[in-house]
Amino acid sequence: MTTAQTTTGTTTETSAGVLPAMAETPASQLRVAVLGVGLMGADHVARLHSRISGARVVAVSDAFAEKAEQVAGGVPGCRVIADPLAAIADGEIDAVVIATPGQFHEEQVVACIERGIPVLCEKPLTMDADSSLAVVRAEDQFAARAGRRLVQVGFMRRFDPEYAQLRALIASGEIGEPLVVHCAHRNPSVPPHFTSEMMLTDSVVHEVDVARFLLDEEIVAVTVLRPRPTRHAVDGGSDPLLVLFETTGGRMVDVECFVSTGIAYEVRTEVVAEDGIALIGLDTGLVRQSGGPAGAVRSSGITPSFKERFGRAYDIELQHWVDAARRGGIDGPGVWDGYAAAAVGEAGVLALRSGQRTEVRMAQR
Ligand SMILES: NC(=O)c1ccc[n+]([C@@H]2O[C@H](COP(=O)([O-])OP(=O)(O)OC[C@H]3O[C@@H](n4cnc5c(N)ncnc54)[C@H](O)[C@@H]3O)[C@@H](O)[C@H]2O)c1
Repeated sequence: MTTAQTTTGTTTETSAGVLPAMAETPASQLRVAVLGVGLMGADHVARLHSRISGARVVAVSDAFAEKAEQVAGGVPGCRVIADPLAAIADGEIDAVVIATPGQFHEEQVVACIERGIPVLCEKPLTMDADSSLAVVRAEDQFAARAGRRLVQVGFMRRFDPEYAQLRALIASGEIGEPLVVHCAHRNPSVPPHFTSEMMLTDSVVHEVDVARFLLDEEIVAVTVLRPRPTRHAVDGGSDPLLVLFETTGGRMVDVECFVSTGIAYEVRTEVVAEDGIALIGLDTGLVRQSGGPAGAVRSSGITPSFKERFGRAYDIELQHWVDAARRGGIDGPGVWDGYAAAAVGEAGVLALRSGQRTEVRMAQR
């Protein structure tokens, strides 16, 4: 499994080895095209423009021309290229960020592999396991020829400092063998089109990657239970869901996914191990106490959305990607991680429909 590694002042360690650091000059800056400038894409453009070193956004592409013009207008020297495939083919583009809807990812990622340029593709890698496996095979062929990989998948939690700390703690052996992982993934609300199946493929997909990242094992089976639904559930759907993953090593991961809490964005992960327990995601910030003895209250901040909770993770993810892409490679979760997430997601949808424990069907690496 590919994992996020650390960048030091002088070197970047990746699964491909230690890469020398690059000096930054305007000519050495990575020229990036961002495809799809909706919620995520516009956010990536703003980060690349204002917070990330070593790169500049030189082109954007969006099916909605006005949106592309508006985003390009905020970045000096940024062009609009209407056709995303033309942007990928453009000789003045060194690397691509894909933030279009998932159904367009396969064609756009494969075009980047064919051109031999690095790409950061937002999750999902593609819409199903078979097409994700086709992308794995296409990149494998490139890697066999060129000796480097090109596709990083946007599982940003690997770059979140708390998740990185939790993984390091497990790897240190200080809390012994992990046995059970408890996860909560809660949103205050979701749009009306968000179905119970999307809770698995769009929300729990992050816990799939977290489980694989923390435990270094594949998920082999999924069970999905439907507790009594909240009256706020979209269109009478099943919300919350309880999802149970079993891993190759016999560990279990449970996820409470509840997307209509009406409260805040909460992502918690607790690892129960043989010699200790570790928890991240309390996300309280400052805790304030006020009022007299009769009416005293204790209060702290709440996190409205994933943008605030994982803002730092997006910064680190993009900086790692830029640093590695300037050397022609990647430094983070790759196509196999995207494929594994798609395969587990498919098993999850079958488990939701059937109410049965469902085994994950995965190809050999
Ligand atoms: N990693 C994360 O935390 C995270 C969070 C949210 C979304 N995402 C992912 O990011 C991607 C984009 O999600 P979003 O919420 O920004 O969606 P969005 O609908 O806000 O934006 C998508 C944009 O792509 C444009 N578009 C549609 N088809 C296109 C095409 N063929 N070529 C170019 N542009 C096209 C749309 O006009 C829109 O502006 C999705 O894959 C989603 O799953 C990831």
